[in-house]
Amino acid sequence: MTLPGNQDNPVSRRSVLKAGSIVGGTVVAGGALGGVIAALSRGLTEHPSPANVTAAPAEAPLAFGSETLPFYGARQSGVTTVAGTQLALLAFDVDEGLGRDGARRLLRVLTEITSKLTQGQVPLADTEPEMVTSPARLTATIGLGERFFTRASIVENKPAWLRQLPAYRIDQLQDRWNGGDLVVSLSGDDDLTIAHARRAVTRAIARWARPRWVQRGFQGARGARPDGTTMRNLMGQVDGTANPTPGPDDQVIWCGPEQGVWANGTSMVVRRIAMNLETWDEVDRVAREDVMGRTLHNGAPLTGTEEHDEPDFEAKSPIGFPVIAPYSHIRRARSDNPHERIYRRAYNYDDDPEPGELSNSGLVFVSYQADPMTQYHPLQARLAELDSLNEWTTPIGSAVFAVLPGCADGEYLGERVLGL
Ligand code: HEM
Repeated sequence: MTLPGNQDNPVSRRSVLKAGSIVGGTVVAGGALGGVIAALSRGLTEHPSPANVTAAPAEAPLAFGSETLPFYGARQSGVTTVAGTQLALLAFDVDEGLGRDGARRLLRVLTEITSKLTQGQVPLADTEPEMVTSPARLTATIGLGERFFTRASIVENKPAWLRQLPAYRIDQLQDRWNGGDLVVSLSGDDDLTIAHARRAVTRAIARWARPRWVQRGFQGARGARPDGTTMRNLMGQVDGTANPTPGPDDQVIWCGPEQGVWANGTSMVVRRIAMNLETWDEVDRVAREDVMGRTLHNGAPLTGTEEHDEPDFEAKSPIGFPVIAPYSHIRRARSDNPHERIYRRAYNYDDDPEPGELSNSGLVFVSYQADPMTQYHPLQARLAELDSLNEWTTPIGSAVFAVLPGCADGEYLGERVLGL
């Protein structure tokens, strides 16, 4: 008998029971999980409740809950693999006295738990095995902040580019959204699975790391729009059109062999950017499109008709003005230097308004690039200098992480690159 789960890796009752017996042998979760396993086993085999049978028949086909993305490989998933519609970005501070031994154990545990959860399998010591059976393209992407290397006593392994971004004049950073020694980026199509994964990960590494900040984000429910549709941000713009293409543009996104052991790793820049939707409401449609250089209707450049048409920055209006304004976001964000490109993967946030405010919305802006200092920084500096979008957007958080190269089954993330 199988639980509703990943069809390629069905979570059989036998494997759940086996996990239970292993965990049952440990002091920590044996009792709790043992009870869960027993109840699960009874519920599914002997006493199915009417609610279970009608609401969630064990063999019912899932629309996409059973879909998985690979965990093992030369590169981690969750960067260029298809983006899950939901995001939980978890940043942690690690213990001051972490050391090499602590770092090794932390990364080993993280690999063990995320390699299972992403495949719809029950990790050891998971007390809610039913919560892992719909991975829904769950990915976990793991990266290290600058201070991790100091605290793990492995500064010699830190990539040369790993440091905080300089302060830009548009920044109004709040410490609660800055920095972090370790990041676990969970993305997928099911909030419930992500919430469980978040708790499971946080609990599993609590011995060495404590949450620093969590940023939740969304792109829209899966199935609400045709697959492959570029998301809209909360200003109503089509956001994510002009991105490097994984494969031909891999050198933009991934560290190459010249970065030694970091080859197949990347950098993750996280910027929390607040939107002032109240003042944006006062802007008419023509001005809104002028700010971006693209239409609101389908995200086409103002010089084209389709979303993916190439913008023509030289085109002039009948009275001689550039059709795409030189101060527009896409003009300022398009560098003449082909090296200054980034791979964007942004999510919306829409939190509860602060007292007296009407909204608390913006972007969890995430970008990946082989070198944040020579690719992201010049671009951000140019936008900080001039970009009409700045009138309505304010960066309030900033962090940079080194995303570890992937690993093979039997290894753990960071094992080779950090020499742990
Ligand atoms: C709340 C803040 C932001 C919003 C709402 C926003 C929105 C957009 C939109 C709607 C587009 C056009 C469609 C597309 O190609 O995706 C775009 C393009 C772009 N944005 Fe942003 N963006 C924001 C911040 C940033 C930041 C911080 C950076 C980098 C430092 C950035 C870099 C880019 C780049 C490189 C492009 C593509 C330009 C091109 O070559 O056509 N954006 N952005």
